[in-house]
Amino acid sequence: MSGAYDRTHGDTGNIVALEHVNVTIPDQQAATAFYVMGLGFTRDPYLMVGLDNMWVNIGRSQCHLPTGSPMRLRGTIGIVVPDLGELAQRLTRVAPLLAGTQFSFRVHADRVEATCPWGNRFRCHAPSPGFGATELALAYIEFEVPRGTAEGIARFYREALGAIAATERRGGDAVASVAAGSTQKLLFRETDASPPPYDGHHIQIYIADFSGPHRFLVERGLITEESNEHQYRFRDIVELDSGKVLFTIEHEVRSLLNPLYARPLVNRNPAQTNIDYARRHDVFRGTY
Ligand SMILES: [Fe+2]
Repeated sequence: MSGAYDRTHGDTGNIVALEHVNVTIPDQQAATAFYVMGLGFTRDPYLMVGLDNMWVNIGRSQCHLPTGSPMRLRGTIGIVVPDLGELAQRLTRVAPLLAGTQFSFRVHADRVEATCPWGNRFRCHAPSPGFGATELALAYIEFEVPRGTAEGIARFYREALGAIAATERRGGDAVASVAAGSTQKLLFRETDASPPPYDGHHIQIYIADFSGPHRFLVERGLITEESNEHQYRFRDIVELDSGKVLFTIEHEVRSLLNPLYARPLVNRNPAQTNIDYARRHDVFRGTY
């Protein structure tokens, strides 16, 4: 370090953004009650507006919810929301609509934990500098991985993806922390429980060096889909010396030339109602 600034704080690595999580769900009405009415997110008004899929905007990111058998992410989705108290009120209001499902929520001093009707877990935080300047964001995904895998996972993201990744200890557990853009993170927390079988859900990332990771993954036989000019997929995160699979989560990998990159997303102000309507406050204030 020279001069007054630590310039490494400005490094983001090769993963530019964690844009969406995709889980199929069996009931679009219940999904609307949870994601739109409860969590306060906004249905994408332009794409996937039918009955067989819903894209839900969370600041600059999305949840993709095609209709199908329920999928469950093997970990927790970390969200920043503008107001935890208002979130708890909304979740209380939708609870009767989701009776008989796996829906639940719990209010803690510093967060609200919410479970979707099919068991996906969300940890909702108030805005804070650690999440960047945002008030509404998909901040991180924390996967639960077997003991002894965090170091190998961090190395995989460094060497295969060109990401900034390191292992740290959080609450006694080893956690691989992978930078996904300026403030988002992919976290891999070691736990004693072995993960349930992988059911095919996926995450989507944008990367700046698109061909380098592709070449690396092709050499190891890890590419699972050559989707199109601007996208490929892989599933297995491996120990790079032995090839042993450490964890499986499908990555939809896109270049910055993908037409969907940095697409402006509509976000509403979830506090707005027709009862105490405030003019010019329909649009959420803090997305960008
Ligand atoms: Fe996707």
